[in-house]
Amino acid sequence: MNQAALHKLLAQTTKPKDLDAHFELRLATNLTLLKDLFLAIYPKGIESGAFNDLLTLLPKLYKTRSHTLREQDLSRINSGNWYQSEKIMGMQLYVDHFNKDLNGLQQKLSYFEDLGINLLHLMPITTRPKGENDGGYAVNDYTAIDKRYGTKKDLDGLTTTLRAKKMYLMLDFVVNHTSNEHSWAKKAKAGQKKYQDYYYTYPDRTIPNEFEKSLPEIFPETSPGNYTYVPEMDKWVMTVFNSYQWDLNYTNPQVFMEMLANLVKLVNLGVDIVRFDALAFLWKKMGTDSQNLPEAHTIIALFKMCLQVVAPGTILLAEAIVAPLNIIRYFGEGNKEGNECEVAYNASLMALLWNSMATKKTALLYKTIANIPTKPQDATWINYIRCHDDIGLGLDDRFINEMGWNPQGHRKFLLDYYCQNLAWSPAKGLMFMYNPKNGDGRITGSAASLLGLEKALETNDVALQEQAVDKIIMLHGIILSFGGIPFIYAGDEIGTLNDYSFLKDANKKEDSRWANRPQQDWATIASVKKKKGPQATIFGSLKNMIARRKKTPEFADGNNMVLHHTSNEHILIFERTGATNEGVLVISNFDEHTQVLDGNRIAKLGYLKDQKYHDIIANQSTQLNSGFLALSPYQLLWLKKY
Ligand code: GLC
Repeated sequence: MNQAALHKLLAQTTKPKDLDAHFELRLATNLTLLKDLFLAIYPKGIESGAFNDLLTLLPKLYKTRSHTLREQDLSRINSGNWYQSEKIMGMQLYVDHFNKDLNGLQQKLSYFEDLGINLLHLMPITTRPKGENDGGYAVNDYTAIDKRYGTKKDLDGLTTTLRAKKMYLMLDFVVNHTSNEHSWAKKAKAGQKKYQDYYYTYPDRTIPNEFEKSLPEIFPETSPGNYTYVPEMDKWVMTVFNSYQWDLNYTNPQVFMEMLANLVKLVNLGVDIVRFDALAFLWKKMGTDSQNLPEAHTIIALFKMCLQVVAPGTILLAEAIVAPLNIIRYFGEGNKEGNECEVAYNASLMALLWNSMATKKTALLYKTIANIPTKPQDATWINYIRCHDDIGLGLDDRFINEMGWNPQGHRKFLLDYYCQNLAWSPAKGLMFMYNPKNGDGRITGSAASLLGLEKALETNDVALQEQAVDKIIMLHGIILSFGGIPFIYAGDEIGTLNDYSFLKDANKKEDSRWANRPQQDWATIASVKKKKGPQATIFGSLKNMIARRKKTPEFADGNNMVLHHTSNEHILIFERTGATNEGVLVISNFDEHTQVLDGNRIAKLGYLKDQKYHDIIANQSTQLNSGFLALSPYQLLWLKKY
């Protein structure tokens, strides 16, 4: 049983109004686990007094939580998991690109309501270096709002309104690194040993050179290597991402404690989901790639168990864009099961969908998904197509081999297909961080440009336009029905194309991810209700599917997704099973030609019985007139059993 479930049980036997008693109880019940986790990372934690410091810190942090949020914590403990509901629908956006600032965002809440969005992921809004700052993922101060977005008061206003509207908020916690302008980094540069120990700093290259032997490069084009020389302190510091992002040293318990305090300050702003950024990198060990190490999981569980005591209404999202079998581990295993992150990005599904679009085949998707172990009952996915980052080809080589393809050759094909190296491909994507040393590369670009809309509009090719629109709708329909929280990347709801303006900005031009961080196009949004066209079709279809999702209880995530195989290599079928013989069949065609499915095969699953079914997306009852089901290119169906 995970600790959240235990607290739910205990909450029923404790006086409902006595919030402090509930806190005490949570602390008492988590104590043993907290101690085990803490000592696993800091074996000297008892003698050094560090564990005692943690125990003193927790009540102090709890005292800083507002009464409203404490009450909300308790009511969330007592209710079902809100994040698994079919009624949750997310959107990710840059506040300044969306509508200027936090107040501007608040003025647009009716836009979200109209579309059906009730969970917002705002990209980093904390202070950051003036020049390059990785879109705010280089943090100067975890608790200071950058003034371009507004003030703390503006954020308070926004969270209060969101709560009143029963909307949810997700913010990032950049847990792995600070910027080189954070006060700790500044003190380290000034020679303060205490703060040099907050990072991995070295007097020479001896240890860095050893580490480099097994460390991959995250940004090989712009920030090769994993260490940066800092002349002010005449030392090398570990910088796995960009040279201005200093990795925090979690072997130092003081770092954990300070970051925990920062985390609580963040959640006390009224944040419902904390996106744990780059959490796979939290622990480094010589001779390994320093990703997904067991100690990283222990640190995450430790954060989670502390949060479970202080602010149990908040949940954690794992931003682990790693191999499929590694992602699922962030839900916790063994004594950590259900005690790490409640939510993880379904980066595997995302990459596999792009793979299926390029190859027009679904077998790799089937093989991979079928091999991912069932996640814990209280965990869920974020299903998405695009986000602000690149598309990494996190596909499992074993399965690529089983397909009869050569993994390296196959990845090269995908890069060529999406990054304009094949004349016949409709995609207009850009290459990100190509590493000539090993041929690795990633893909960027907006969903619409990657799916052919940009090229189709340029060439005035109406058929290609329609095809691109169908692809965009189909992929969104899959993430809306797969099981988990669907997230739309702002702009994709109107088929926004690549934005090439980053090429003119010296601080952005080396980072092609900016092609997919466009300004929200309000003029087009205003026109979609009046004019026909690809944007209007995409917007209307997505809005319709969101509304239908919310009326389909089978789409709530109860680990109720079953893959069904067909003999047709272009088709994907999965079922969202429901209570007592009910369910919804999701069928999609990844091919550019009509594909036919044998009606008997589907009838065997209990659908199309008596040749009648409910087509949820079209909201109509349809009669099947022949013994087969024909799916037009890129068609998606949600079929409900009668
Ligand atoms: C995450 C973010 C990405 C950022 C990186 C380093 O992966 O999504 O945008 O560059 O972390 O913070």
